[in-house]
Amino acid sequence: MKNILITGASDGIGAALAKRYASPTTRLILLARNEKKLVAVAHDCKKKQSAALTYRIDVTDTQALQNLISEIDAEYPIDLVICNAGVTSIIPKGGEAESWQAICSVIDTNVYGVLATLNPLIDKLRERQHGQIAIISSLAAHYGMPISPVYCASKSAVKGYGQALRGWLKADGIGVSVVYPGFVKSSLSDQFYSDKPFMISPERAADIIVSGIEKNKASISFPFPLNFGIWTLSLLPSFLADWIMRKLYGVKKS
Ligand SMILES: NC(=O)c1ccc[n+]([C@@H]2O[C@H](COP(=O)([O-])OP(=O)(O)OC[C@H]3O[C@@H](n4cnc5c(N)ncnc54)[C@H](OP(=O)(O)O)[C@@H]3O)[C@@H](O)[C@H]2O)c1
Repeated sequence: MKNILITGASDGIGAALAKRYASPTTRLILLARNEKKLVAVAHDCKKKQSAALTYRIDVTDTQALQNLISEIDAEYPIDLVICNAGVTSIIPKGGEAESWQAICSVIDTNVYGVLATLNPLIDKLRERQHGQIAIISSLAAHYGMPISPVYCASKSAVKGYGQALRGWLKADGIGVSVVYPGFVKSSLSDQFYSDKPFMISPERAADIIVSGIEKNKASISFPFPLNFGIWTLSLLPSFLADWIMRKLYGVKKS
């Protein structure tokens, strides 16, 4: 049995990943707040003869999360952990700054939530000299979207953390991949009021992520046209890159 722990498994990319990994040889350990949705995902996984366990937890409760993950790992030593739970915040169309509450919610979930998921596991994986970590960042980590500054900051933070972990943990036989999706259809991306070029389904995203994790790729970026576009932006003079981003996201003078 391969033990795979996924945070944010009740919806969107996390739910698609759970269903993609479901098989008679996997035990899925699914975490999120919405128990009803989690149970529905687990039910679909069980139809593929997978073992599937659900745990209702808020990843911003970092002490409870660390305790839970230590308990789970003691019973089912984790082979692969996917830090996927995430939220966004968007600057309202009127242009006011993000509220402090929204800022804290994004950082608590997208940054502390990831650190608290991994902190109790890292030394256990090192002792076992085995395991894999995947962190869901975003293409927005490479070049900030002008409509969601805190979200972009949170995704850059976990990008740096994942890259550093990869270098550190390689000698212990532990793989680390950082995942940089572009737009994927979900309740999170529904909140973006801008155009969403090259948007793909969560199922397609899950296929790409699973294939990248299998190859232990350092960086799993998709879709190609958007990834290429973001890379090109970083080569342009900043006045031009900023102009393109402002046009793309419809940012006007307030
Ligand atoms: N969709 C995109 O275009 C896109 C692009 C780049 C990166 N991403 C990243 O992909 C990841 C998944 O996003 P998604 O698009 O699939 O969004 P989604 O459909 O809204 O799913 C988010 C998941 O995170 C969970 N979650 C949120 N806050 C949580 C908390 N405090 N504690 C526990 N679980 C929590 C949600 O479950 P509960 O509500 O049940 O807790 C849900 O399962 C995120 O990290 C996101 O930043 C998404």
